[in-house]
Amino acid sequence: MVSKAIQLVFLLCTLALFPDVVFGDPPYKICSTSSSYVDGSSFENNLMNLLSTLSSNASISKFYNTSYGVAPDRVYGLYMCLDYAANDSCRKCITAIAEVIFKLCPQAKEAVMWEETCQLRYSNNNFMGTLNVTGNIGLDNKLNISEPQKFESAVNKTLSNLTKVASSDDSPNMYATGEVPYQDKTIFALVQCTRDLTALDCSKCLQSAMTDIPDCCYASIGGRVLSRSCYLRYEFYDFYHGATGPTDSPTGKDEGKNNSSRIWMIIGIVVVVGLAMVFLAFGLYLVRRKRNRQSKNGIDNSRINLGSLRVATNNFSELNKLGQGGFGPVYKGELSDGLEVAIKRLSACSEQGSEEFINEVLLIMQLQHKNLVKLLGFCVDGEEKLLVYEFLPNGSLDGVLFDPKQRARLDWSRRLDIINGIARGILYLHEDSRPKIIHRDLKASNVLLDYDMNPKISDFGMARIFGGNEGEANTATIVGTFGYMAPEYAMEGLYSIKSDVFGFGILLLEIITGKRNAGFYHSKDTPNLLSYAWHLWNEGKGLELIDPLLSESCPRNEFLRHMHIGLLCVQEDAYDRPTMSSVVLMLKNESATIGQPERPPFSVGRFNANDQHSEQCSINFLTVSDILPQ
Ligand SMILES: *[C@@H]1O[C@H](CO)[C@@H](O)[C@H](O)[C@H]1NC(C)=O
Ligand SMILES: *[C@@H]1O[C@H](CO)[C@@H](O)[C@H](O)[C@H]1NC(C)=O
Ligand SMILES: *[C@@H]1O[C@H](CO)[C@@H](O)[C@H](O)[C@H]1NC(C)=O
Ligand SMILES: *[C@@H]1O[C@H](CO)[C@@H](O)[C@H](O)[C@H]1NC(C)=O
Ligand SMILES: *[C@@H]1O[C@H](CO)[C@@H](O)[C@H](O)[C@H]1NC(C)=O
Ligand SMILES: *[C@@H]1O[C@H](CO)[C@@H](O)[C@H](O)[C@H]1NC(C)=O
Ligand SMILES: *[C@@H]1O[C@H](CO)[C@@H](O)[C@H](O)[C@H]1NC(C)=O
Repeated sequence: MVSKAIQLVFLLCTLALFPDVVFGDPPYKICSTSSSYVDGSSFENNLMNLLSTLSSNASISKFYNTSYGVAPDRVYGLYMCLDYAANDSCRKCITAIAEVIFKLCPQAKEAVMWEETCQLRYSNNNFMGTLNVTGNIGLDNKLNISEPQKFESAVNKTLSNLTKVASSDDSPNMYATGEVPYQDKTIFALVQCTRDLTALDCSKCLQSAMTDIPDCCYASIGGRVLSRSCYLRYEFYDFYHGATGPTDSPTGKDEGKNNSSRIWMIIGIVVVVGLAMVFLAFGLYLVRRKRNRQSKNGIDNSRINLGSLRVATNNFSELNKLGQGGFGPVYKGELSDGLEVAIKRLSACSEQGSEEFINEVLLIMQLQHKNLVKLLGFCVDGEEKLLVYEFLPNGSLDGVLFDPKQRARLDWSRRLDIINGIARGILYLHEDSRPKIIHRDLKASNVLLDYDMNPKISDFGMARIFGGNEGEANTATIVGTFGYMAPEYAMEGLYSIKSDVFGFGILLLEIITGKRNAGFYHSKDTPNLLSYAWHLWNEGKGLELIDPLLSESCPRNEFLRHMHIGLLCVQEDAYDRPTMSSVVLMLKNESATIGQPERPPFSVGRFNANDQHSEQCSINFLTVSDILPQ
């Protein structure tokens, strides 16, 4: 920032020393605001290629037109260097434009930009050979002339003559310069057209540019008009042979004007520099304030330091404890800026090194879906590993669903919203997220509810964070919860997206019946909700399972349709279960015909009512023998 300010001051001082240089710094530009491209689009890509082609041609020719890509993302472009520019300065000039045009005309599908000795134009429309004289830019020399009318007329005649030359058939470069005596001086003038124009259009372009002179440059000793397809300039010095202008020996009247213009310019510069300093100071203040804020929060690129998490949770006080999750206790915390968060303190049994852990967390943080709990940040400090999540005030679904008073808040349409939200969240994890995620521990306590009772799935990606393998795999460590585990997973440690479908099916049945799968015991033959539901379904008595609290808000056929979908998801054979995308379709489409479910697993359900976790270690390590049917 400081170096920018110094550059600015330097530039302004330079301008003060050479006041006859046209004021205002190049590049000059016309950026179309009517149509824009998107970052990363193929139009942008084509534009980059076009610019690089144009730059590479600029060392060998003064004019080049080309296009790049195919419609609709095709981009047309050309550049023109003033004919007096040396090959090398032409290349430098075009390269300079190519470097800044992205920044100065952000996302514009059409732009023209001028530097001191060249211009570059691109567009999504083919403009080659088409004249467009709107929006010309006129630039005056800040020095005044004493008899403006007389001077204008002389300039006019000179430029008219040059226009004829440039647009004559024997001027392939469409370029002309001329020197005409005026009083005791010489007018040096230059005109040039882009070579895609016909001679007639070149003449029209220059004539149109000349009509802009009175507006921009009346009474000025020099001027330029920048047009899309042509360029004109006149001065009292030989600018096209490298002269920088008569800074010395100005005559008579001009001297007084010269001095006064200098004074004005210096006043202007002082004001501008003063303002620049104020902005600079303000900018530094803002940057510092932001830094302070960040370090107060302890948040720096989503990495949060342990100290601020201790402060946020009263040193992980029991009062702040929200519950004991599968991977360790969860605390409520408030960061220094007032943001409420849920902090999961992972117990130390992850076998992963810190680096792998951080990599996984950063990957998981990129997963964003409205039905997933947002992972905001993390902390790694020695043995401590913590994950910081958004805080959701309505707690988890099991707290609401399995409490008769709370459950009354969930009418049928709320429950449908919850079911659909969960399904969409899982579908995202299975099919749209990168990396793709199998949750492996879907259950009511892993679904949190926001203010509007929208469901958000939590604890996704834990298997990855804990160094689990991807995709279908065999693992000795089973992450999962009694009552929700698919049989192939519980018995053989085999998991796949279909194991999540199983977990979803149980959740669905729990939501519509208001009963816990694991806590439900009807008889020895139907020891859990699943088996009982299957039993009733086959007897044609599915409606017996409807949550009594729903009796008013729930259409009977809707209940049965959802029970049907739930039973499809919990079929014993993983192969028979639908994918989440067909589940989402079935949920949405009331008239969809859906197949008859096969039987759900019975043996796996035979466990106690308690939905227990082993808590010595953070993960629910369940040995296979624990859950074999007895
Ligand atoms: C411009 O560059 C392209 C490729 O970069 C080349 O094929 C072409 O001959 C060049 N044209 C001129 C006039 O230099
Ligand atoms: C400059 O470009 C012209 C063609 O416009 C070419 O004939 C000449 O050799 C080039 N000069 C240099 C030094 O490359
Ligand atoms: C340049 O434009 C002309 C039309 O004015 C066109 O015929 C020609 O193909 C263009 N050149 C390139 C390289 O695209
Ligand atoms: C000239 O270009 C401007 C800006 O792109 C556009 O709005 C206008 O329609 C064009 N005029 C003609 C005659 O093509
Ligand atoms: C410049 O000359 C043209 C004819 O070439 C004329 O139409 C125009 O009015 C003149 N402008 C001035 C300012 O003299
Ligand atoms: C314009 O050209 C004509 C002849 O072509 C010439 O007589 C006249 O002096 C020229 N005027 C200027 C101002 O160059
Ligand atoms: C130059 O002339 C214009 C128009 O007559 C006038 O507005 C301007 O103030 C003058 N500039 C200086 C520096 O004298």
